[in-house]
Amino acid sequence: MPSFLYSQLFVRPKYPTTSFAGKTVIVTGSNTGLGKEAARHFARLGASKVILAVRNTKAGEAAKQDIESTTHCASDVVEIWALDLSSFESVKAFAERATKNLSRIDVLLENAGIAVAKYDVAEGHERTITVNVISTFLLALLLLPKLEATAQKFNTQPHLTIVSSEVHGHCKFPEWKADNTFATLSSKETANMDERYPVSKLLEVLVCRALAPKLDGTGVILNYLNPGLCHSELSREGPLMLEVLKFFLARTAEVGSRILVAAAVAGPESHGKYISNGIVLEEDLSPFVKSEDGKAASEKIWKELTAILEEIQPGVTANALK
Ligand SMILES: NC(=O)c1ccc[n+]([C@@H]2O[C@H](COP(=O)([O-])OP(=O)(O)OC[C@H]3O[C@@H](n4cnc5c(N)ncnc54)[C@H](OP(=O)(O)O)[C@@H]3O)[C@@H](O)[C@H]2O)c1
Repeated sequence: MPSFLYSQLFVRPKYPTTSFAGKTVIVTGSNTGLGKEAARHFARLGASKVILAVRNTKAGEAAKQDIESTTHCASDVVEIWALDLSSFESVKAFAERATKNLSRIDVLLENAGIAVAKYDVAEGHERTITVNVISTFLLALLLLPKLEATAQKFNTQPHLTIVSSEVHGHCKFPEWKADNTFATLSSKETANMDERYPVSKLLEVLVCRALAPKLDGTGVILNYLNPGLCHSELSREGPLMLEVLKFFLARTAEVGSRILVAAAVAGPESHGKYISNGIVLEEDLSPFVKSEDGKAASEKIWKELTAILEEIQPGVTANALK
């Protein structure tokens, strides 16, 4: 908690200045909030292509116009592509389009996420788990070959960056010990929606820590980050207390988005690591993640997730096998 207050009140992440000239960047959930502000930075910093991967293409069009009018980038830089993470078919179609039509992917910034209070199902799993975890890593694995090909062809280090949160430490997550964690999380009878969003952010951290070593030597940098508490539309269903907290402490979406951009340019030292306040800050990971139980949970979750992903797209997990 002191670290949270200190960061929110006294740390101002650096304004991004690294050039993205010649780069192709995909940002999921970029019609609003942190994703839109990160996309604006990429366009301002000269990216050749910034793909707004959004479920609402009309909102994506408005974001494109807003970004163009503020950055004065050329009209062919920002593109709007449909992506709905609550549909596996949509994720597959997006990945196929990107694989076929893009000559390179320098940054896959997986930012889209939801925080909902109500239990709902998408693709057979509780919706938060489907959107924040299963589809997020389905997209990552489907696009890994393109990221790796970009590394080789252009002698560069593409980034796979996952937007997590410090709230990954704000949950008890007893489900990790269940015979089947994902099945337990999906059950309406046992779902604890009060800690579902933090659990989804913890799952992201655990999966990243299992996946990163498998990408060693591919040239792809995988990192995951905490943007801090920011003003955005995320807490539209959140409690009043959160709004009060945000009023006093939250960063603007633009300031928070600087951490997304920092992760997307971070060097190899960030591979497999947690970025907070714009720098690698492993000490800010939760005690559970750093514990022996956390390591065991990471391996268990990875095993279960790969079985789920294989069912959705047979063969996809071979993309992450060393
Ligand atoms: N704001 C914070 O304080 C904070 C703190 C820590 C971490 N984060 C993380 O930051 C990321 C961005 O959140 P934000 O604060 O910018 O929230 P936001 O303003 O609500 O933006 C979330 C984005 O995700 C998109 N999205 C939601 N469901 C989707 C789906 N099924 N398919 C595709 N896109 C979908 C939303 O699209 P629609 O507009 O169509 O809903 C929106 O573009 C999230 O991963 C969140 O967990 C935020």
